[in-house]
Amino acid sequence: MTDTTDLSHYWMPFTHNRYFREHHAYRMLASAEGAYYTTTEGQRLFDGLSGLWCCGLGHRQPRVVKAIQQQADTLDYATAFQMGHEPVFRLAQRIAKLAPQGLDHVFFVNSGSEAVDTALKIALAYHRARGDASRTRLIGREKGYHGVGFGGISVGGMVANRKLYAPAMIPGVDHLPHTHNLKEMAFSRGQPGWGSHLADELERMVQLHDASTIAAVIVEPMQGSAGVVIPPVGYLQRLRDICTKHGILLIFDEVITGFGRMGAMFGAQAFDVTPDIITFAKGVNNGAVPMGGVIVRDDIHKAFMTGPEHMVEFFHGYTYSGHPLAVAAAHATLDVYAEQDTPARVRELAPVLEDAVHGLRSEANVIDIRNFGLAAAVELSAADKPGLRAVRIFEESLKRGLLVRFTGDIIVLAPPFIASTDEIWQMTETLKEAIKAAG
Ligand SMILES: Cc1ncc(COP(=O)(O)O)c(C=O)c1O
Repeated sequence: MTDTTDLSHYWMPFTHNRYFREHHAYRMLASAEGAYYTTTEGQRLFDGLSGLWCCGLGHRQPRVVKAIQQQADTLDYATAFQMGHEPVFRLAQRIAKLAPQGLDHVFFVNSGSEAVDTALKIALAYHRARGDASRTRLIGREKGYHGVGFGGISVGGMVANRKLYAPAMIPGVDHLPHTHNLKEMAFSRGQPGWGSHLADELERMVQLHDASTIAAVIVEPMQGSAGVVIPPVGYLQRLRDICTKHGILLIFDEVITGFGRMGAMFGAQAFDVTPDIITFAKGVNNGAVPMGGVIVRDDIHKAFMTGPEHMVEFFHGYTYSGHPLAVAAAHATLDVYAEQDTPARVRELAPVLEDAVHGLRSEANVIDIRNFGLAAAVELSAADKPGLRAVRIFEESLKRGLLVRFTGDIIVLAPPFIASTDEIWQMTETLKEAIKAAG
């Protein structure tokens, strides 16, 4: 018989496994509905992170559930290579319509990590297809998170994700400086005014390597996993201008910012800067079935559409690309986004979150608070053991019925779009009590 209390066999992702085994009170999720989880102890938890940035419409959204059930009962799987099913073409069309103008073609994958690696491959292959094969250098950013594939960790800028794999990194990758500077921008509301000049580092890299060697720059419009680092006013536009000037592709990794969280369908629209390629995942289908994708400009797609017509143009794809269940969930999610005008709801709630979270400013050990759209972070000074203060706050929050995310000594909040004003205030009140209790 399986021992249901033996937690040793499951190797948990991005988790302190040994600590979890000893301290999992209120951490075993049993069910969920709307903006709340219920744990195995029966504790209700307000989902202050929308799943993992993915369930903006709340859990078990009835339309999404029904769509998945019906699809499972009609066409559970459709061979992805050399065969199609109508809904996946329709979904690509819908996403292209929502994306910034000119980004017209969608390649489906199953996660953010796959979306990033796919986008990097597209960038390299695009230049080669145009006879510009010397453009092989990729530029990411410090503190960037682009998933855990070898491409993603190479362009990513998180040392813990990179250091063990140094010899296996993609060669020829540089990193822009991050824009997280508490001396200049602590307690900014929305976009900080300082920091757009940091984009000029890209110009310096061009001077060093020559534009003819650089394929693409990849950044998150807002750095989510680093702890909600908001782009300074003008920063993304400056990156755009330098990329355009030198024929470098600009990739926005919108795995977190895509599908509403910034108050527009994509961060590109919220920040009014159009990249050449967008990666997405998470919010595309409310997190109900794994799905991600890459949206590319028409001429990038066209560059691939050459050679004999009976030949495969892009030797890339996944068994589960455009999985029917994921596609069905995405159609239902996009229907609800449209009917409820989700980006407008986010714009309505964003000032509420801003006021509520900045109300924590005078709490002990709080050294920064930042926010944009329905994303916010509270950064704390580290105790003797870095990271431990945030773990304590996380645990104190769980006891009080709130689930937040922590990264280092930063508490991250990303409430569901369906949250009420009261729930957002309650979330930050609970966090305040947890900060006090954690000491
Ligand atoms: C910007 C960004 N890119 C990529 C990823 C990786 O996504 P996944 O965990 O689905 O592979 C994430 C995950 O949070 C992300 O935030």
